[in-house]
Amino acid sequence: MSIICAMPEKITAKDVKKKLTISPTSETILRTYPPITCIANGESVLHEEGHVVRVMLYADMLCNILESKGISVNRHAVLSAIRIHDSYRRTDYDEEESHGLVAAVASEIAGNFTEDPDADYIHFLTTWHSENDKDVSLKGNVTFPIELAVLKDADALDRFRDQYLGVEGEGLDKDFLRLEESNDLVSIAEELNQRYFSNGVQRQPLESVIEIGKEMGIVC
Ligand SMILES: [Fe+2]
Ligand SMILES: [Fe+2]
Repeated sequence: MSIICAMPEKITAKDVKKKLTISPTSETILRTYPPITCIANGESVLHEEGHVVRVMLYADMLCNILESKGISVNRHAVLSAIRIHDSYRRTDYDEEESHGLVAAVASEIAGNFTEDPDADYIHFLTTWHSENDKDVSLKGNVTFPIELAVLKDADALDRFRDQYLGVEGEGLDKDFLRLEESNDLVSIAEELNQRYFSNGVQRQPLESVIEIGKEMGIVC
């Protein structure tokens, strides 16, 4: 008598999304909030447009999860800050906590959000995204804003890219995620990066993320 062992199937991001019923992001959102001024990074590998678009995707889905629980988020401010958060970064690999401030100041000079009523908050989020969490609450900010938590967690989720870009000993440390809802997106971020980098150099990051996202069922 033979015994047939059922091999566990690999769980994909699509399965997780289905199970958790996370609302996908939309192509419209990704096109409405494209990366800006990223070109100033020059030869950036880690902080190029693909990173910004993927972070946008995670953040928008995170907003969907939070709002489904009745937690309101200023989505426009978060997504706008993500557009510029790593622009004008001067180094790719060295820790440079002030790069958020550099990006915010450059954005103010460029007048990116002059007509936007959320301009100050967008630049606040951009400035603080690269600082330690404890410093955010120490320097006169009474509470740690949910929008900053979304931005920082979405940014962290894209650490899965490190393994494809020759960064050793890094990657995502799930213990550092601030929102429990961010854990729902870990396998999605892992699969998105795996698919993105398996295609070699992505010359059109926005189009590539939209295409891969649709294949995965996380962009509609
Ligand atoms: Fe950054
Ligand atoms: Fe980033």
